[in-house]
Amino acid sequence: GRVGVLLGGRSGEREISLMSGGGVLEALHSKGIDAHPFDPSLRSPAELVQEKFDRVFISLHGRYGEDGTIQGLLELLNIPYTGSGVLASALSIDKIVTKQVWLSNGLATPVFVELTANSDWDAVAKKLGLPLIVKPAHEGSSLGLTKVKSVSGLPAAYDLAAKIDTKIIAETCIIGDELTCPLVGEGASAEALPVIKIIPPDANYDFHHKYFSDETQYLCPTGLPEEVNAAVQSLALAAYKALGCRTWGRADVMIDQKTGKPYLLEMNTSPGMTSHSLVPMAAKAAGVEYADLVVWILSQTLK
Ligand code: DAL
Ligand code: MG
Repeated sequence: GRVGVLLGGRSGEREISLMSGGGVLEALHSKGIDAHPFDPSLRSPAELVQEKFDRVFISLHGRYGEDGTIQGLLELLNIPYTGSGVLASALSIDKIVTKQVWLSNGLATPVFVELTANSDWDAVAKKLGLPLIVKPAHEGSSLGLTKVKSVSGLPAAYDLAAKIDTKIIAETCIIGDELTCPLVGEGASAEALPVIKIIPPDANYDFHHKYFSDETQYLCPTGLPEEVNAAVQSLALAAYKALGCRTWGRADVMIDQKTGKPYLLEMNTSPGMTSHSLVPMAAKAAGVEYADLVVWILSQTLK
């Protein structure tokens, strides 16, 4: 059948989505699949109908792509699509709602507050401790994120995040190993892939160091004790199930170096598929090449 690859879009991660989608398209073509790009920011829903796709691979990141909106459109059009459905996508795009779901399931995530222009900055710093992280609730790839080291830095951090989002979160900054864990499958048959440890220069895994730097080191296997890897995998899997995700996703986790305890940061329901991205890296460590991963993800739409 005719496969659409949705890429681009109008979130702050557009540029990353173009890289992810380009990789996905190339992989599908290498497997002889009749795949075509479709950028919903340049074309209308009517044109999506005209394309007569039998199914689509969603390579969009962030709002209007990873947040349940395009998933809802595809449901209405009765076009099967990769990844999580409307509800899990909508829950996972919102870092505050995500954490509320996790907390109600007894899953560890850093203490947080929602910031507003009228927040009492001293009270925020007192509750969360310093340093703390301020970020937009609906962005990805560290866009609009600030690590705040003193109370005086809070207003500027808020303003930066508020430029790109209407909902802003502040959370305790966990100091320790930065890990990520891809998840695949659905419900009782969901499973975790190998954990990756990320070592960015100066503990700063920002937009540049995520995609455009060769200074960031990725360890898979992590080199951490097996029980630590297992604890991270089980936490990530529980996080994925709690949100009702399906097909694939990726949970970002920090380990508190003082206590050794893992904390969930967020769930990505349309993870990056760029040359620097993490799910392909973990799949490779598990013996699955990029193109085979892409074909497998697409195959899940046939279920
Ligand atoms: N938000 C980016 C695309 C990722 O999680 O890989
Ligand atoms: Mg993200």
